[in-house]
Amino acid sequence: MKEEIEQIQADALATIAHAVGEQELDTARIAFLGKKGRLTAASSGMKTLSKEEKPVAGQLLNAARGAITAALDTKRTALQDEADRAALEGLDLTLPGRALHSGNLHPLTQLKDRAVQICRRLGFALAEGPEIETEFHCFDALNTPPEHPARNEKDTFYFDSGKLLRTHTSTVQVRTMESQAPPVRIIAPGSAYRRDEIDATHLSVFNQLEGLYVDTDVQVGDLKGTLEFFYRAMFGEDTEVRFRPHFFPFTEPSFEIDVKLRVKGQDPRWIEIAGCGMVDPAVFEEISKSRGDDLYHPDKVTGFAFGMGIDRLAMIKWGIKDIRLLIENDARFLRQFA
Ligand code: PHE
Repeated sequence: MKEEIEQIQADALATIAHAVGEQELDTARIAFLGKKGRLTAASSGMKTLSKEEKPVAGQLLNAARGAITAALDTKRTALQDEADRAALEGLDLTLPGRALHSGNLHPLTQLKDRAVQICRRLGFALAEGPEIETEFHCFDALNTPPEHPARNEKDTFYFDSGKLLRTHTSTVQVRTMESQAPPVRIIAPGSAYRRDEIDATHLSVFNQLEGLYVDTDVQVGDLKGTLEFFYRAMFGEDTEVRFRPHFFPFTEPSFEIDVKLRVKGQDPRWIEIAGCGMVDPAVFEEISKSRGDDLYHPDKVTGFAFGMGIDRLAMIKWGIKDIRLLIENDARFLRQFA
């Protein structure tokens, strides 16, 4: 039996040494070590051996199995190395690689995220509303009567159903007060739509950020402090902010907010950036009617609201001269914000 085992081992090692591919190697493994392989067949001969011979034969069989397995492993590694070398042949591994651009968030998304982050620190929660709105939520509830120019078909996209694409995110103020008891402190970023002629500073779809704070004793000072904090966090600590009296149907008093822009090589100039004001009591009255309770009765609560264009913020922050760049999806433009 000893000779038989030695013969099998010698045959196996020779076959393995000559194998030229993974497949041949596998065939060799099966031929010698497989269930019906030669070594397995030899070990069934153990049965015929005497008690003394058995352990000796067992050792020999184990040693042969070990040697063949080791040879198989070594050969497999060698074959793989060879395949790797062949695959790399002709490649110059010292050439610089081609970098993959990993993409980045759109500047408007970055700016919106930043604005939300700043407002969150001040305790504002995120709120949402639909973009297809009723005239009530867009205008009537906001003290904007039917003859107001904003409601003109020339300015607003109406559907046959009488609904419309919201002209501002102030609709979310109304929806929030309808569904939540005061105090409320929310911001609502989202799209707004107007029939504007498209040019370097206008698109018919743009993005706004609306804010609303209603409580028992909200004052103009709160409005001013909140927005000054916001613009300094957004544009830098030394940003100057000014409030100019203005008119909005839904706030009284109302203001437009300007920030002082300092562009290198240009004289500093004030630029209009947002609208804001103290919620008009007429709005609270509409909300009370719609809710059927007096939680928002103008004798009980006061509040401030603000609204600003996110596109405009982005243009100011990064000195973007044409708003259309923000929707063209030109990778050369977008990549600059990585
Ligand atoms: N909704 C106004 C606009 O779109 C902005 C605004 C919001 C003004 C809230 C005052 C208060 O121009």
